[in-house]
Amino acid sequence: MTTFESRNPSRFASVVTTVELADAPTFVAACRSAHDAQPEWASIPAPARGRVIAQVGRLVEANKDALSRLVTEEIGKVFAEALGEVQEVVDTCDFFLGEGRRLYGQTVPSEMRDKQLFTFRVPVGTAAIVTAANFPAAVPSWYLVPALLSGNTVVWKPAEHAAGIALAMAELFYAGGVPRDVLKVVVADGPTTYDGLETALTEGLVQKLGFTGSTDVGRRLGELAGRHLQSPCLELGGKNPMVVMPDAQLDLVVEGALFSGFGSAGQRCTSLGTMWVHRDIYDTVRDRFIAATEKAIVGDPFADVLFGPVIDEKYLINHEKNLAMITDRHRVGGSTGIGRITAANPRAGFIGDPDAGWFVHPTIVENIAPGDALYDTETFGPLVGMGAFDTLDEAIELANGHGYGLSSAIYSNDPQTIWRFREKISAGMLSVNNTTSGAEAHLPFGGNGRSGNGSRQSGIWVLDQFTRWQSMNWDYSGSLQKAQMDLIELPCDMDYRL
Ligand code: UN1
Repeated sequence: MTTFESRNPSRFASVVTTVELADAPTFVAACRSAHDAQPEWASIPAPARGRVIAQVGRLVEANKDALSRLVTEEIGKVFAEALGEVQEVVDTCDFFLGEGRRLYGQTVPSEMRDKQLFTFRVPVGTAAIVTAANFPAAVPSWYLVPALLSGNTVVWKPAEHAAGIALAMAELFYAGGVPRDVLKVVVADGPTTYDGLETALTEGLVQKLGFTGSTDVGRRLGELAGRHLQSPCLELGGKNPMVVMPDAQLDLVVEGALFSGFGSAGQRCTSLGTMWVHRDIYDTVRDRFIAATEKAIVGDPFADVLFGPVIDEKYLINHEKNLAMITDRHRVGGSTGIGRITAANPRAGFIGDPDAGWFVHPTIVENIAPGDALYDTETFGPLVGMGAFDTLDEAIELANGHGYGLSSAIYSNDPQTIWRFREKISAGMLSVNNTTSGAEAHLPFGGNGRSGNGSRQSGIWVLDQFTRWQSMNWDYSGSLQKAQMDLIELPCDMDYRL
């Protein structure tokens, strides 16, 4: 067993949680326990499971402050955003607590007399859920809550860097009435998880895989699930475009770009990737965005700052790799330096001790164009690209051209422009006069192309991930009626004309 220390990224000398990383057999054993517990959990009436979800929601609400503090300490998310993240868990519970009294199937008319058709939602079985560190509470809840509500058991593999938050979340679920074998948490590294999953799938212990994280890992997990004839729920990367039209309200644009580009240190999968600005207003938007970014306060995530540290050193290293993609053609702005903020590479107005944590300068890179590595690389850090366009069609081509399709935004007040954008943008989500980030917890969340396999989370739509449709026909005629063969037809006159 390896010990993992999850450290506070604002003060990496301080350890937030120490966990033993599980090996593959431990992962498989957790899947077996969850698998064995599933029939009993599914036999509990759905309204009673809904009440458990209601209890979990109330407990998360009652512990909102403590859990949000832990989010800020363990992954460095600004406290105001951490409160929002925990609220998203509450919202998810509030949505699904009533679903326990619905989980509707349908009654469908039969083409024959004395026969009736029905549909039922049936839980898939045991779900293995693998989540990232950037949304350590909200995104897991998007899986756990509907999966449990609809009668599945769950093995949750959180990111190691968010292990403390995951263990705290699990305790809230247990306190709310979820039995311990119905929800298992296994902290393991990536390769071990892959090996454990492969065995669990082969042994028939897992029927659904859910993953939020990078496109590369999603592809590998998708292949693994595909070999077992399963369709996973994959929420992958993004390179989310913001298109700014000449009639846009520029205050809103700048505020939106600042929040979605640099909020959470750019580590949302919905973070702004590239801002495409109409050439007529490009210089004005650029000047205002750069000025606002320069003025923004970075530092201690418990203070009133735009963003705190990146989650861990590994995210800083990734950011530095992205900075290496800047070429002579590009122009850089937004801060008093680039790369890691330190006493020697200071950021004006910084709050706290930069050398104690993984703090990074916000960086705006201008002149982004197709062909640049930065055009189609998800940067997942405080780096925002900018580029100019002349026509809406060109903007849409730029916004779609990299093949990601998670979130997108357009700033305009012209209905024709907005509807054209909706029709042509390939992203699964679009915002009008609002940023790429900040999706509400009851609309379908998910992407296309390099951003996912078309699966959707949240709201009623996620039920299709955690249930399968079972159809039933019931013939009470007492004779064998043959579908498509025993036709009931009424006489008609097809030659009739007025
Ligand atoms: C993510 O980054 O994986 O829409 C999820 C948002 C948040 C969720 C982001 N509500 O920005």
